[in-house]
Amino acid sequence: MRTFLPVEDLARDDRFVRYTMRERMADKRASARIDAKERSKTSNRITPDRRDGADAARGLMHGILVGEIQALEGAGRTCHDFRVTGIAERGPLATQPIADAAPAAEVPFALKLDMARQAWDEARHVEISVKLAEWMGSDIGSVAENTVLFEAACSTDPVLRLAGVNRALEGLAIDVFTTMKEFGELAQDPYLAFCEDWMLADEVTHVKMGSDWLRSLTANDPARRERALEFQRVVDKMFSFGGTRSDSMDSPIGLARRFRELAGFTDDEVADIAEVSLQALNERKQSIRAARQSSAHSTAGIEPAGFEPAGIEPAETA
Ligand SMILES: [Fe+2]
Ligand SMILES: [Fe+2]
Repeated sequence: MRTFLPVEDLARDDRFVRYTMRERMADKRASARIDAKERSKTSNRITPDRRDGADAARGLMHGILVGEIQALEGAGRTCHDFRVTGIAERGPLATQPIADAAPAAEVPFALKLDMARQAWDEARHVEISVKLAEWMGSDIGSVAENTVLFEAACSTDPVLRLAGVNRALEGLAIDVFTTMKEFGELAQDPYLAFCEDWMLADEVTHVKMGSDWLRSLTANDPARRERALEFQRVVDKMFSFGGTRSDSMDSPIGLARRFRELAGFTDDEVADIAEVSLQALNERKQSIRAARQSSAHSTAGIEPAGFEPAGIEPAETA
């Protein structure tokens, strides 16, 4: 079987619609969909009492669904793409071409076992998320799919994959699942609340795997660790979705500090993510203000208090 599958070759049937991050961030509907006067003045969190709460939750649920599919594909690829340390010359993979960066193309067998366990979890999450999406009233393909999660799993260095996917994106999943669990509790929907809680427990484990492997594989290679952390920072910033997730109540999704701590993030690392997220939120607010000022249509009366971040649309998380 082929190693290092490009994102273009992911298997999807014709129900799925793909779009790029650039297209997503350029979508003007994201900043002008709701009249600010009808929005809460104090919070943008996705809650059932928000006028657009049901649609926002459905969009987020679809983002979770496609994120689970890509997380399954990414973890499965990491099982398959790399040789096992110490036995690289044996077995059917010995004659196959592998990544350019040969030292980074080997992983301990225990890492593959962790990725296999994760693939098993993600497959279960896909099944749960399909059922939850139906339960909430949406269909596969009702929202476009962004494949940046899988792209982060295409690095030729497994440490970068784990930093980008398991720590940045699965970290975002912790924030998203916490928000969806709270939404389920507020909506008095035990199915949604319980399912999100159970998946959240798996995601904390996946992030912890990323944190542990990052530290152990780079224990004697500070340069490689720094490259991995830099990759994680880039992915974290990209997936802040213009401030969709931050400590600010202007963001639909909060930062789940306690669960991140359980997943192996240090206080400084959580503080870094909080700062990057807030920065992304402020940049998004500025760009919305600029777009409104230059718009031919009058936007009088729509003030930043009704700020509508792009991420009310799906957040692909695992
Ligand atoms: Fe996961
Ligand atoms: Fe998952």
